[in-house]
Amino acid sequence: MGLLHGPLFWLLLLLLAACSGLLFALYFSAAEPYPGPRSGARNATSSRAFIGPKASNSGTRKGLPCRHPLYLAIQRHPHFRGLFDLSTPVLLSGAVFTQELWDSLSQHKAPYGWQGLSRQAIASTLSLLNGSESAELFTISGKPLSDCIRCAVVGNGGILNGSRQGWNIDAHDYVFRLNGAVIKGFEKDVGTKTSFYGFTVNTMKNSLISYWNLGFTSVPQGQDLRYIFIPSDIRDYVMLRSAVLGVPVPEGPDKGDSPARTGPRPAAAPASSSRPPTRNTMARAALSTSFVGPRPQTYFGPEASASKFKLLHPDFISYLRERFLKSKLINTTFGDLYMPSTGALMLLTALHTCDQVSAYGFITSNYWKFSDHYFERIKKPLIFYANHDLSLEAALWRDLHKAGILRLYQR
Ligand SMILES: *[C@@H]1O[C@H](CO)[C@@H](O)[C@H](O)[C@H]1NC(C)=O
Ligand SMILES: *[C@@H]1O[C@H](CO)[C@@H](O)[C@H](O)[C@H]1NC(C)=O
Ligand SMILES: *[C@@H]1O[C@H](CO)[C@@H](O)[C@H](O)[C@H]1NC(C)=O
Ligand SMILES: *[C@@H]1O[C@H](CO)[C@@H](O)[C@H](O)[C@H]1NC(C)=O
Repeated sequence: MGLLHGPLFWLLLLLLAACSGLLFALYFSAAEPYPGPRSGARNATSSRAFIGPKASNSGTRKGLPCRHPLYLAIQRHPHFRGLFDLSTPVLLSGAVFTQELWDSLSQHKAPYGWQGLSRQAIASTLSLLNGSESAELFTISGKPLSDCIRCAVVGNGGILNGSRQGWNIDAHDYVFRLNGAVIKGFEKDVGTKTSFYGFTVNTMKNSLISYWNLGFTSVPQGQDLRYIFIPSDIRDYVMLRSAVLGVPVPEGPDKGDSPARTGPRPAAAPASSSRPPTRNTMARAALSTSFVGPRPQTYFGPEASASKFKLLHPDFISYLRERFLKSKLINTTFGDLYMPSTGALMLLTALHTCDQVSAYGFITSNYWKFSDHYFERIKKPLIFYANHDLSLEAALWRDLHKAGILRLYQR
């Protein structure tokens, strides 16, 4: 998009990206309302056949039918029909941790696998995700699942500033948010409901640092809220384990963080103490000069339990990269750093688990009209980080919208 101006620029972006991994959101449009809960049945027989016997991503369905389920739009589309495999497992749970899985995932670097990561750390985390709810996204409060699960995924794009989409967003059964999802002060534009919050530990902490002054002073919390960890590093497994156990993080760059309020002691270490000066921590130190709020004591609220936390399957992330977001960046110097953005991972997660999906605050073709994020006070251009391919993501959302598979909020 004419934004790449030579090696220095790339390096700068790379540094920023490596340290911040910030989300560069995504956008969609509620201009045409959903068809709504009219009559007309979702054909459970054909849907089951299409989804296949492995389909366990969204649990048992009961209740209202779906008029325009996305799987039908997929089935009808000559290109996307060949890309989507709705039976591919989205979440990683302890139940599937076998030698075979270890051998296979050890061949890929995170977030696509476990190469170079501690088997002990991964095994001890996965052993906590051992219940059936760890394999399913929608198991909230034991409510029966609707036969038409309507999801909104809310990226943080500036298109949402002044959008007045809050009511439409909250009208969905489940609302996904991610990274610096500021709500206070933007309720009319982005709504208040949060069912899932998606992040990597890196993007979550950098969002708290970078957007604290703009109102992102805590990660969304709530009784019905679930967290979706993106396993981009061993940090994510280690933090997840501590979060479930409600204890401080014992090791690694987040040592001393107390992810849940039940932890026996508050976060101890300031951001840059006692850590090896990696590229990430150096960049974070640079960022933190603008950080004036108190350090967060907890991230995930008082309730620590395995059912509160979900973990994306590394194979799901590989599948998404291979089929939907196979960027040319993979063949460059940045190949090892490339991964779909947090927003892209959440939106594609929703597309593989919900029956209808709307995307708000995701990148659109006229992204230049809007600020980077909806919560900025002064307009800032969208940043194209070197470890993501937002142009490719923009084209994917546009095509999925045209195909009727999702509804992209645009204006
Ligand atoms: C549902 O789909 C199956 C298989 O495609 C078909 O045999 C059946 O008649 C359909 N049922 C309805 C109600 O459309
Ligand atoms: C999960 O729990 C079952 C029974 O409680 C146990 O046999 C199994 O080893 C556990 N799995 C992991 C990965 O710890
Ligand atoms: C990367 O390069 C290989 C070999 O030149 C090519 O086959 C592949 O299509 C390229 N991948 C992408 C995503 O451009
Ligand atoms: C957000 O919208 C308001 C009102 O429409 C406008 O004044 C403001 O400049 C916008 N902020 C950004 C960062 O674009």
